[in-house]
Amino acid sequence: MKTYLVTGGAGFIGSNFILYMLEKYNDVKLVNLDKLTYAGNLENLKSVENHPNYVFVQGDICDRAAVEALFKQYDFDYVVNFAAESHVDRSISDPEIFVKTNVLGTVNLLNIAKNAWQTGDDTYNEGAKYLQVASDEVDGALGETGFFMETTPLDPHSPYSSSKASADLFVKAYGDTYKFPVNITRCSNNYGPYQFPKKLIPLMIHNTLGHKELPIYGDGMQIRDWLYVEDHCKAIDMVVRDGKLGEVYNVGGHNERPNIFIVKTIIDYVKNNVDGEVGEHMMKYVADRKGHDRRYGIDPEKIKNDLGWYPETAFEVGIVKTIQWYLDHEEWMNRVTSGAYQEYYEKMYADR
Ligand code: NAD
Ligand code: DAU
Repeated sequence: MKTYLVTGGAGFIGSNFILYMLEKYNDVKLVNLDKLTYAGNLENLKSVENHPNYVFVQGDICDRAAVEALFKQYDFDYVVNFAAESHVDRSISDPEIFVKTNVLGTVNLLNIAKNAWQTGDDTYNEGAKYLQVASDEVDGALGETGFFMETTPLDPHSPYSSSKASADLFVKAYGDTYKFPVNITRCSNNYGPYQFPKKLIPLMIHNTLGHKELPIYGDGMQIRDWLYVEDHCKAIDMVVRDGKLGEVYNVGGHNERPNIFIVKTIIDYVKNNVDGEVGEHMMKYVADRKGHDRRYGIDPEKIKNDLGWYPETAFEVGIVKTIQWYLDHEEWMNRVTSGAYQEYYEKMYADR
């Protein structure tokens, strides 16, 4: 039985990871430490709340005493750190919390795990590992050609990506300085169930159903590289188990699409299957995101060659599954968007 500390497990990717792991294995125990910010939602994990191999603890990764107490209570083999402030637009209007959670929170976890696992000078519990769930955004923006490699120099532009890049550097520093067992996975844009509806895909679905404007930043021709969330979960699982210590692995499925293509795909699906009144007239071109990165694209050859990972869900299949999931969970969307974050978002949107 391997015991994982999963932080941020009530968010989008973290909750998908917990569901994925409990479905796939019966010899893993998952302890989910989540602060339950606006983005954390225990409803995502309702189906496993009484699972014998799952424990939820509400808490902050920055809280030293709380994290130390968890390490005393559980004999963790692995830490998988999903916990973060993840919304780029919010980082532009409110950067400080991104430094606190994404940088200081990561350093706190590293420090406590290091102390708990240390067996001698530069030696640690056999097989123990800290995995940092990182983002392709740390690599900056691409031109029309080329891909992000693991060796691409970091060049973050937003406060969000700068905080994630800082966290990556601390993880690297713990590996380099203390020989602490780490891996970093840098993934492209995820899509799938349980994503908070302030990110592009669920926001567009939510607004389409509510007959609200569909805000397109700038000319809508920015390119993101979309990966179905389950394929990201599979990659994290493989890197935890088999990743070579100290390595960074890029994760992506070569699914680059301009934003406008994504929005039109959603409009077409809803128009043809649910509501004939929906259409492109709902798209509204609004002020561009400050410092907006033009193109992301991942080269995933390393994780494919070294670990045998490959994406299983083609974009055409995944996007239909995803839209249909949100259509089937309209109440979930309405509930999670009815909190204080909605007011914050509306103000942010009105300023555009
Ligand atoms: P999310 O915003 O949906 O979830 C974040 C979770 O972290 C929430 O449950 C929240 O309550 C929790 N959290 C926030 N601050 C916390 C704190 N101080 N202590 C404990 N818990 C805290 O984010 P997501 O989209 O699921 O992203 C998860 C991770 O993956 C992040 O580190 C993000 O940078 C990274 N990532 C995301 C994507 C993507 O496309 N969404 C792609 C690559 C990497
Ligand atoms: O690349 C990985 C990153 O992907 C993760 O590290 C982040 O946590 C995650 O939020 C995501 O960041 P993006 O900024 O790419 O995601 P978002 O859904 O906010 O925006 C996707 C694109 O769509 C981006 O070019 C901005 C644009 N957009 C977004 C929204 C919310 C719009 O045009 N209109 C919108 O209303």
